[in-house]
Amino acid sequence: MNMASSILLFLFLPFLSLTTSHSASSSLAMGSSLSVEKPQDVILSPNGVFSARFVAIGTNAYSFAICFTQTCSHNHPAIVWMANREDPVNGKRSKLSLSPTGNLVLDDAAQRTVWSSNTDSFASPVLHLKDNGNLVLSDLQGTVLWQSFDFPTDTLLPGQPLTRHTQLVSARSSTNHSSGFYKLFFDDDNVLRLLYDGPDVSSIYWPNPWLVSWEAGRSTYNSSRLATLDSLGRFMSSDGFSFTTSDYGGRKQRRLKLDSDGNLRVYTLHDEWFVSWQLRGDLCNIHGICGGNSACSYDPKLGKKCSCLPGYRVKNHSDWSYGCEPVFVLSCNRSESTFLELTGVEIYGYDATFTANISYSNCTNLCLEDCNCKGFQYSYNQDKNYYTCYTKMQLLNGRCTPSFKGTMSLKVPKNHRLFTEESFGSNEHVCTVKILRVYNEYHVSKIVRFFLWVATAIGALELVCGFVVWGFIVKTRQKSGADEHDYHPLTDRFRKYSYSELKEATKGFSEEIGRGAGGIVYKGILPDQRHAAIKKLNECKQGEGEFLAEVSIIGRLNHMNLIEMWGYCAEGKHRLLVYEYMEKGSLAENLSSNTLDWSKRYNIAIATARVLAYLHEECLEWILHCDIKPQNILLDANYQPKVADFGLSKLQNRNSLNNSSFSMIRGTRGYMAPEWVLNLAITSKVDVYSYGIVLLEMITGKSPTMGVQNIDGEELYNGRVVAWVREKRKGTSWLDHIIDPAIQTNYDESKMELLTQVALDCVEEDKDIRPTMSQVVEMLQSIPH
Ligand SMILES: *[C@@H]1O[C@H](CO)[C@@H](O)[C@H](O)[C@H]1NC(C)=O
Ligand SMILES: *[C@@H]1O[C@H](CO)[C@@H](O)[C@H](O)[C@H]1NC(C)=O
Ligand SMILES: *[C@@H]1O[C@H](CO)[C@@H](O)[C@H](O)[C@H]1NC(C)=O
Ligand SMILES: *[C@@H]1O[C@H](CO)[C@@H](O)[C@H](O)[C@H]1NC(C)=O
Ligand SMILES: *[C@@H]1O[C@H](CO)[C@@H](O)[C@H](O)[C@H]1NC(C)=O
Ligand SMILES: *[C@@H]1O[C@H](CO)[C@@H](O)[C@H](O)[C@H]1NC(C)=O
Repeated sequence: MNMASSILLFLFLPFLSLTTSHSASSSLAMGSSLSVEKPQDVILSPNGVFSARFVAIGTNAYSFAICFTQTCSHNHPAIVWMANREDPVNGKRSKLSLSPTGNLVLDDAAQRTVWSSNTDSFASPVLHLKDNGNLVLSDLQGTVLWQSFDFPTDTLLPGQPLTRHTQLVSARSSTNHSSGFYKLFFDDDNVLRLLYDGPDVSSIYWPNPWLVSWEAGRSTYNSSRLATLDSLGRFMSSDGFSFTTSDYGGRKQRRLKLDSDGNLRVYTLHDEWFVSWQLRGDLCNIHGICGGNSACSYDPKLGKKCSCLPGYRVKNHSDWSYGCEPVFVLSCNRSESTFLELTGVEIYGYDATFTANISYSNCTNLCLEDCNCKGFQYSYNQDKNYYTCYTKMQLLNGRCTPSFKGTMSLKVPKNHRLFTEESFGSNEHVCTVKILRVYNEYHVSKIVRFFLWVATAIGALELVCGFVVWGFIVKTRQKSGADEHDYHPLTDRFRKYSYSELKEATKGFSEEIGRGAGGIVYKGILPDQRHAAIKKLNECKQGEGEFLAEVSIIGRLNHMNLIEMWGYCAEGKHRLLVYEYMEKGSLAENLSSNTLDWSKRYNIAIATARVLAYLHEECLEWILHCDIKPQNILLDANYQPKVADFGLSKLQNRNSLNNSSFSMIRGTRGYMAPEWVLNLAITSKVDVYSYGIVLLEMITGKSPTMGVQNIDGEELYNGRVVAWVREKRKGTSWLDHIIDPAIQTNYDESKMELLTQVALDCVEEDKDIRPTMSQVVEMLQSIPH
């Protein structure tokens, strides 16, 4: 040993003794070590802000890390760097030592080297923690052998450069510090980018991938590839990207972190850490956030939610980044596939083909012909005035965007029991999408089961995305073009109201506008100034969950001739429903005030028949109306009818409906089918009967309830009007005798005759002789307008 080194040894003795006596120091000298078992084994920066030490990151799992001193022993320490993020060590016997050869080594309990700096030097290197949080191994001459700033994990500290050789890699999750899927790095074209590098796919999500660099405000010409956050809170990158934090100025403690959700944020310490800048407000812009075959929805309050696309189920409940997997196997035989069409979901990228100005059926064919096609997006280009077709190889980057004006069609097998509870039941969150229709014929009962389930699931959970109306049409409505697509705008959010909100809206339930089975209807003005009809249900023995499930089913029925339900309230014993308000009032009011000529009446008859057919057949067999009467048919400004109170029978008679026999008589006297009185099975034909009575009332102007004093059974269903019309019809020019005097003489005779014929068919005593509602529609449409 020469003179110089003995002097050096002497000089460093104090340090050695410091570290070996386990008190915090700002450096670690050659030959000494820090033990995981001694909490006081800490390298402290001279200003005390940073500590380098073992940090517990799980049960008996430790990492050697740099953290903000005041948080190091918290549950969620603010860690700025980690030596062994992938490979935590045991809480016993693990240690970090600076070897005599100048290598910084992290050994676990079994003396296995988990991490090392891969340095060697005989010039007495020392490990220092600087005031800026940089852990530096330098030798006597001051040469830096290794520094933590050159090996960032997910955090960049002020003054720490991000260079062509470094990148930030997010943690796997907020609790798992292993390398995750997101990277911030300088790309080969000198642009700073964020990459999602998932298990199956990878994609750039920032700057927006559809922009070329200069559109995104980036330059590709500066090859220095350097980005830093300065001490005042300004970030500058050599490609021209920059930002300043919301608390710019001062010398506060800040850190730029690529979080495990793929978002880039700056945190500033003011007693606690708060976000002083972030890249994305809406996390659904971040690729891979919900994995494949899923849709992301974002709510500013609730944050991000993921849900599987219909027909897919979540792979790993505890980790959405695995996404969802199909519950079916697609055949390559095109005649064995069909499509499920959704709106409100956009799926970005992974297009197999892109075809402009194409018809819907041609787009469908493109996808059917390609075995690897998982579905297609069909969207309207407003500028060019045509539709564009994107067939998808993968269903990635799905997000719920009610504003998205296209449809997404998922390829599904025709004959698969896809839509079972298991396929959906496991979702933590349900993103609400609107299913427009199933393309091609599809077996109804399966679909119905599926919708039932979806609706129930949605109803029971908090709603997230844009709201969804639940309308589906099994077959394309026939138009000769067959390609016409009418995209219904998404209705306003179906929402939950509080009781006090509705009390205020109705001024304390002061203005009654109707009264019927089940409750009283009040006029109200909602907080957003919409006029509404608010129905307060009488007694409802259902629990809240059950009520919600049913209400959400009703709320999702969508037909232009159904009154729209905007929301509901279920609080304590209160059960209220919020509907759109119809200025023109009910058919009953309009009949008595003589505002309807024959053609308006005919149109009302057809439209009412259509919506009942929709409820009975196209929609769901079990949604009977059970209380069809002129008071429940409301008219909009154009005298288009909208049927109200549908589905309430379901709300109130849930159990008895299951076996399609009601224990309790429902409906309104005069309009009720004989089955009620005779205690026969209740089917959709009870609605047909009531509809027939309503038609007779529209034709004759005579209400079946008028003048009926005796309310015993016979009198009730052998409504006088029916008998009277049958009688008159045997004579000559019978129409003139029965028609409502309020109708002028210049009516269309053939139409009114037909209407009468249909009405009488509908009120046949034997329910099996009565037509179905869709037969009624056909009959009424047989005479062209
Ligand atoms: C953390 O994530 C990694 C990578 O996915 C995984 O291998 C590891 O088991 C996870 N650790 C814990 C404690 O969950
Ligand atoms: C390139 O970027 C560096 C770092 O931001 C900057 O100092 C330099 O002036 C830039 N060069 C040009 C030509 O803009
Ligand atoms: C689900 O993810 C968690 C966290 O990444 C992981 O620990 C677990 O092994 C995964 N389970 C399955 C079945 O893949
Ligand atoms: C495709 O499926 C249809 C109906 O399932 C079947 O009749 C036909 O033989 C199949 N074609 C081929 C090539 O397998
Ligand atoms: C789209 O196609 C139709 C016929 O297929 C054609 O008439 C129309 O000009 C096309 N539009 C554009 C913008 O190319
Ligand atoms: C659809 O495809 C058929 C045949 O493949 C073609 O004749 C027709 O022009 C296409 N129509 C449109 C609108 O693309």
